[in-house]
Amino acid sequence: MSDAVQEKLPEVSMPKVRVQKVLAGQKALVTGANSGIGKAVAVALGEAGADVVVNYVVGEDAAQQVVEEIRSHGVDAIAVNADVSREDQVQAMFKQMFEKFGTIDILVNNAGLQRDAPFDRMTLEHWNFVIGVNLTGQFLCAREAVREFKRRGVVKSISCAAGKIICMSSVHEVIPWAGHANYAASKGGVMLMMKSMAQELAPYRIRINSIGPGAIRTPINTAAWSTPEAYEALMKLVPYKRIGEPDDVAQAAVWLASDAADYVNGTTLFVDGGMTLYPGFTEGG
Ligand code: BGC
Repeated sequence: MSDAVQEKLPEVSMPKVRVQKVLAGQKALVTGANSGIGKAVAVALGEAGADVVVNYVVGEDAAQQVVEEIRSHGVDAIAVNADVSREDQVQAMFKQMFEKFGTIDILVNNAGLQRDAPFDRMTLEHWNFVIGVNLTGQFLCAREAVREFKRRGVVKSISCAAGKIICMSSVHEVIPWAGHANYAASKGGVMLMMKSMAQELAPYRIRINSIGPGAIRTPINTAAWSTPEAYEALMKLVPYKRIGEPDDVAQAAVWLASDAADYVNGTTLFVDGGMTLYPGFTEGG
């Protein structure tokens, strides 16, 4: 794009479009919901009418604030502490959810983290930590949710589906990422776990999909957007020429969880301003 065209771009921010209460009466669990994308998703699901479990591992006060914000939309919410990489804690969290809300309709497998290092300096501890939370954590939570979806089946007055799982993946399920081999491997793993689950569970009317966020303004990637120089470098990777906001992802999650997306199963919805479009090939090649 020429500089002249670039200069004409308006200062854009994301539009605030709200679909009303499409998730009324549904029970949702969002992992890692006390900050960043998870927080925005948890609030948006509440705004759309769902009761929400706000999972967190550290940061109880922040989780409680998210609970209050969700309740301000006239639905119920609770904060539940659990490390998603620990089977016993995940099972205890689902037990607490079922005691409070009776069942689960929507799981958003969001909890995730990065521990970056050049490959030859990556420790086994950092490898296992990232795989443990980002991949094993999604497996453990999804397994508990699927057990309940299968046990309960479809409740037509609530949803056409017996249950919905949204896996928070990343553009790095398809874009290799030097210096982040553990993270990219975890997200590549999420992609095929999600698709395998979707194939296996579709006959039970259980829908599994992923969201693949690009660069979203959250604490996980502060270094990539918090200075003008970093932001300018980041924009070279984003054809749409703005950073994503957590609510961009949250609105996609509401739609994927709703019956409006009933025929959508086993796919990754990239919410990335075009980051997966090989922007390096805009010219040349
Ligand atoms: C990572 C961010 C990164 C983005 C785009 C995300 O999955 O967590 O740190 O900015 O991908 O590269």
